[in-house]
Amino acid sequence: MTTRPVKMSPSMMCADFLHLEQDVRLLEAHGVEWLHIDVMDGHYVPNFTLGIDYCRALAKASSIPFDVHLMIENPERHIEPFCTLPGARITFHPETLYQPVRLIERIRELGASPGIAIDPAQTVAQFQHLIPLVDQVCVMTVNPGYAGQKLIPQCLDKISEVREFIQRKGLSTEIEVDGNVSWTNIPKMIDAGADILVMGTSALFEKHRPHEESLQELCALLGKS
Ligand code: DX5
Ligand code: ZN
Repeated sequence: MTTRPVKMSPSMMCADFLHLEQDVRLLEAHGVEWLHIDVMDGHYVPNFTLGIDYCRALAKASSIPFDVHLMIENPERHIEPFCTLPGARITFHPETLYQPVRLIERIRELGASPGIAIDPAQTVAQFQHLIPLVDQVCVMTVNPGYAGQKLIPQCLDKISEVREFIQRKGLSTEIEVDGNVSWTNIPKMIDAGADILVMGTSALFEKHRPHEESLQELCALLGKS
């Protein structure tokens, strides 16, 4: 694996809702960089998940910034409250809009950090021109909507494709990888160029072991003390 620093963004839909505060303290103690918040609307994806009230409650309990992943139609109608969360990064799927550039600009105007997500059905080439305008490209390695799915191996090539574009253009855009970030897949994702890993049920929030144990192992794997 490369020595590039890699950040963690735990997927909060996979945390223990009945012991949320406990999980958040654990994440803070291990220095995770982001809290990944999956927002789903039952239209863009066939599921419902977290929303702004959940984020506001969490913001009172933690100072880790929010990495909000909007898997929704008409994201422009819903971004404002998410942008007011301290240090928020807002990632949307550009194919949901006619004018994604306008939304990127609006997110910046509102003081948040914009990102775009690339669904497995979309190509990097389609959205390449947007990469210089955003702070993050989230490469989805499963179909958005559910935790616990299997990697779509072809999506690993998209990570390399985005990395190559970023390097060629001398950009500082970060690459996030979302979906089946497992012990087996982490080295492949990092080698392909990932900067931020969305940690869901595949490693951090595994059912059969305490989250603290997984977190310690992840920190060791990613070279964090
Ligand atoms: C969807 C979510 C899931 C997720 C990943 O956008 O972000 O991809 O929680 O966790 P896994 O795939 O490890 O269950
Ligand atoms: Zn996500």
